[in-house]
Amino acid sequence: MKKQMKAATYEEFGGPEKIKITTLEIPELGEGEVLVRIKAAGVNPVDYAVREGYLKDFLPYEFPVIPGWDMAGVIEARGFSARRFSVGDEVYAYARRPLVHYGTFAEYIVLPETYLAKKPKNISWEEAAGIPLVGLTAYQSMFDAGQLQQGQTVLILGASGGVGSLGIQQAKAKGAKVIGVASEKNHGYMKELGADHTLDYKDTNIGEAVKKLVPNGVDLIFDCASGETLEQSLPALKPNGTLVSILNHGENIDKNINFHYVFVEPNASQLDELRELAESGQLKVHVSNTYTLDEAAEALNQIQSGHTTGKIVIVP
Ligand SMILES: NC(=O)c1ccc[n+]([C@@H]2O[C@H](COP(=O)([O-])OP(=O)(O)OC[C@H]3O[C@@H](n4cnc5c(N)ncnc54)[C@H](OP(=O)(O)O)[C@@H]3O)[C@@H](O)[C@H]2O)c1
Repeated sequence: MKKQMKAATYEEFGGPEKIKITTLEIPELGEGEVLVRIKAAGVNPVDYAVREGYLKDFLPYEFPVIPGWDMAGVIEARGFSARRFSVGDEVYAYARRPLVHYGTFAEYIVLPETYLAKKPKNISWEEAAGIPLVGLTAYQSMFDAGQLQQGQTVLILGASGGVGSLGIQQAKAKGAKVIGVASEKNHGYMKELGADHTLDYKDTNIGEAVKKLVPNGVDLIFDCASGETLEQSLPALKPNGTLVSILNHGENIDKNINFHYVFVEPNASQLDELRELAESGQLKVHVSNTYTLDEAAEALNQIQSGHTTGKIVIVP
């Protein structure tokens, strides 16, 4: 009999009640693939969005779906020609595949070894599992699309959540100045991560407040919040500045603005860079809560709130 694993799954799109905890066969190892025993799986807003069916026209899928795209774990077996890692190696990955089917809210996952990087040695499984998706999103948004340079100023909208928390730290490590936007209760947290200034979106016009801090405007707006916060912020962008959004596809954005939408992609060499940052103490992950696999629906409800501080993680 093939080896089995416990996993959270759903057979149709919908709300949290669609999540069932089941036992499934572990898929066969293919060429260049490895079997990873998952130690922790990061939870991201996209996991509930996919479950609701919001992305079904963009991302091919096959039921049953195991949600989750982030993980840290241990290599348990290697397929033909998969030789970059050894059995027992501790790894982490952003595990989004072209087909939404096998995710990380499970005891095991089979992945092409090209998705994997060695896990940072100095941090826990839970912290490591909270890095890949949000860390790569911040990296690809601020450095690939936004071309953020040392000495420049970045305004991060939604800076206390998963992406923003990693964004603040990566921007600081680059030598940039950071203005973080989130609610008042998270201002101390953003300062601890290195934000030079913090602003509350609730009772402040963000654009006007930013202009008081930096009269010439910011070089980059990294938008992880959109809506009114983004609209208010646009006048604070330098004329030659760049706007990068991970939510807004640019429909209502002035065509004169240098605009990029980013949808994060797997990238093992960038995960290597993030590992180095973590091992040098420049990248920390605040895990605000952990859940068991049986509590996967509850974890998705929390992330759906839009007000998670740092990361939440499932420990299967
Ligand atoms: N395109 C991509 O590749 C990509 C990748 C990752 C994430 N995303 C999307 O980006 C968003 C952020 O992801 P995340 O993982 O960081 O989410 P998260 O962990 O839930 O964090 C949400 C953040 O937004 C803040 N926030 C809520 N309402 C706000 C408002 N009106 N103005 C400014 N900030 C506000 C929250 O702060 P308070 O708690 O203080 O309100 C918190 O800092 C999600 O919608 C997610 O789906 C897209």
